[in-house]
Amino acid sequence: MKNDAPRTMTLAGLQFLQALAAERKSGCFLEVGPLFGSSTNAIDAGRVDESAPMHTIDTFEPAPWVRERLGIDLSREAFEKYTTGIQNLTIHQGFAPDVVKDTWSDKIGFYFDDATHGDPGWTNNYDFFSPFFTDDAIVCGDDFAGGWPDIVRNVYKITEERGLKLFVIGRVWAFTADDDSRIVNAVNKSFPELEGYEVEVIHEDRVRRNIAASWSWGLHKPIGMTEVRLHAPDGIEIGVAQTRRDGTATGVALGKEPLRLENTEMLSFAMPQGLAVQFCIMNSEGKTFNTKDIRNGGQLKLNPRQTITAIRVLPR
Ligand SMILES: C[S@@+](CC[C@H](N)C(=O)[O-])C[C@H]1O[C@@H](n2cnc3c(N)ncnc32)[C@H](O)[C@@H]1O
Repeated sequence: MKNDAPRTMTLAGLQFLQALAAERKSGCFLEVGPLFGSSTNAIDAGRVDESAPMHTIDTFEPAPWVRERLGIDLSREAFEKYTTGIQNLTIHQGFAPDVVKDTWSDKIGFYFDDATHGDPGWTNNYDFFSPFFTDDAIVCGDDFAGGWPDIVRNVYKITEERGLKLFVIGRVWAFTADDDSRIVNAVNKSFPELEGYEVEVIHEDRVRRNIAASWSWGLHKPIGMTEVRLHAPDGIEIGVAQTRRDGTATGVALGKEPLRLENTEMLSFAMPQGLAVQFCIMNSEGKTFNTKDIRNGGQLKLNPRQTITAIRVLPR
């Protein structure tokens, strides 16, 4: 992918976005908040059919945080420079959704939102554009992160009310009301090493299963996870030595047996070659943060006020 635009998204996030774009089945592509066009280039690199219309909306207004972080000012000219050559791209300059509210009519088969990260702006965009989604639309966005609580709350609310599975890779979230095998394809394309791995987690007696490269349910939810199981290709196990607060210790072969997490003080990992795990942790105020990748020989220490809420497996 030719993509030299200054960016705020991670490379892994852009790679997943590109793979998601390849899975669009109908309708147009709509991106809200392209900045200099890094995400626009990722969507373009992924789309299979260049004749499918692509729309992008940004104010292109310079903002102090952009200059501080990326060293240059945002402008429409800068966006156009970094997106030269993208076919069938319509640029809407202005504040979304207001800038298109009297004119928008296209069915949307791929929606990517990286614009207003707080409410009411995030919800204004979602509420305006979602009636235009096709039945098989892929709906995604950036920054499913503890620092953006409105995105986390809104995306959980939408997916849970509709009974849809949520996928989060890095900070990029995605769901579809259609068969979600297309999102699974996109994840597998981004992490081919993890194809076939799944993780099952329990929170408040509810069991949920997802592919292991996606964050499990519970990411940035203030609800402790009580149990985790790994469903791995034949013979692959993650060895976990667990120390509990009551002084007892146990060893679990994740992949063969579940790991129960109540009262955990420390977990030490014997990882197979090429695998790592990462956790989301909640503190006593209900605030969440993600650990670094934990590799072979790594440990996770929890203080008495901390609880694990989610896990993901990643290749290393
Ligand atoms: C976090 S940046 C996007 C980063 C970009 N996706 C990338 O790949 O680097 C957010 C962008 O959204 C734009 N923006 C925020 N709210 C907006 C709105 N309601 N309408 C249009 N643009 C908006 C900002 O001008 C900025 O360019």
